[in-house]
Amino acid sequence: MLFPAIDGTTTLYGIIGNPVAHSFSPLMHSQAFWQVGHKALYLPFPVEPEDLPQLLEAFRIASVQGFNVTVPYKEAIVPFLDDLTEEAQLLGSVNTVWREAGRWKGHSTDGPGFVRGLKERGWQVEGRSATLLGAGGSAKAVAFSLLKAGLAQLHIKNRTRAKAEELASKLAEIFGADRLSVGLPEGGADLLVNCTSVGLKADLSPLPKGQLEAYRQVVDIIYNPAQTRLLKDAQDLGLEWDNGLAMLLYQGVESFEIWTGRPAPVALMKETLAAQLQGK
Ligand code: ATR
Repeated sequence: MLFPAIDGTTTLYGIIGNPVAHSFSPLMHSQAFWQVGHKALYLPFPVEPEDLPQLLEAFRIASVQGFNVTVPYKEAIVPFLDDLTEEAQLLGSVNTVWREAGRWKGHSTDGPGFVRGLKERGWQVEGRSATLLGAGGSAKAVAFSLLKAGLAQLHIKNRTRAKAEELASKLAEIFGADRLSVGLPEGGADLLVNCTSVGLKADLSPLPKGQLEAYRQVVDIIYNPAQTRLLKDAQDLGLEWDNGLAMLLYQGVESFEIWTGRPAPVALMKETLAAQLQGK
C-alpha cells in the first residue's frame, strides 16, 4: 500500500452520508490522491440530518476542498450549495461538491460515471435503444446521461407506473418526446439497465428470463452481489452483461478529475475497489 506524505500543506476531502462506514470511497480516493502526488486525504463524515445546514460553513472553516454526498443527502444538500452544474440542477441531486472561487459547486457524477463505464467496455450508446427498470434517484441519473450521450430511444418501466411517467415527461421536455416511452417495449431494445433494488437482498430478477432474450446487453447497477439473478439469466442466454462496479468506479473517477484537474489512476482505483469488495 502506498503511504501518504502528510505535511502542513495536506488538504482534506471526504464523503458525507448516514451511514458512511461501509463506503469504499475513502481508501479509493486517498490512494488515488497519493498515486498522482496530490497531497490530500479523504475521510468518511457521518452527518446527522440536523447538522446539514451548518456543514458547509464547518467545511469552509476546516478548508475541506471537496466531498462526495451519499444516501440520504444527495437531494437534501442541494439548497445549501452556491452553484450547480446543469446536470445537478436538472436532477435536483448532487454527489460531488467542490470549491470554486470561494463558492460551493455541486454536480452529479453518477450518470456520467455510468455512461463512461459502458464506453470503457466498448458498448455504444449513441443511436441505440435501452430499457430502464426503475424510476428512483439512480434511474433518473442514468436516464439523463444516456440521453445526453445520444441514446436514440429510452423505455422506462417502473413498478409504480406514475413515477415512470413523471420521469419520462420531464426527460421529454429536454430531449424530445419521440425519444421516450413508458413501459416495456414489445420488441425489446439493445440495452437493459436495472436501476431497481430487486436482486440486492434476494435471488430475484426484476424481469422474467423469457423477456430478457429481447436484449443484447444487460447492466445491473447492483455490484454486491457481483452477479444478480438478472445477470445470471443474461449469462445463461449468452448476452453481454456487466454489474454496477463500473458505475461505482467511474463516478469516483469523474469526481477525482473534477477535484484534481488530472486524469485519475483508474487501474489503481479499480484494484482498490475490488480488494475492498472481496473483504466484505
Ligand atoms: P435509488 O436511489 O437506488 O434509485 P430509490 O430512489 O429508492 O433508490 O428507487 C428504488 C427503485 O427500485 C424504484 O424504482 C422502486 O420502484 P417504485 O418506484 O415502485 O418504488 C424500485 N423497486 C424497489 N423494490 C422493488 C420491487 N420489489 N419490485 C419492483 N421495483 C422495486
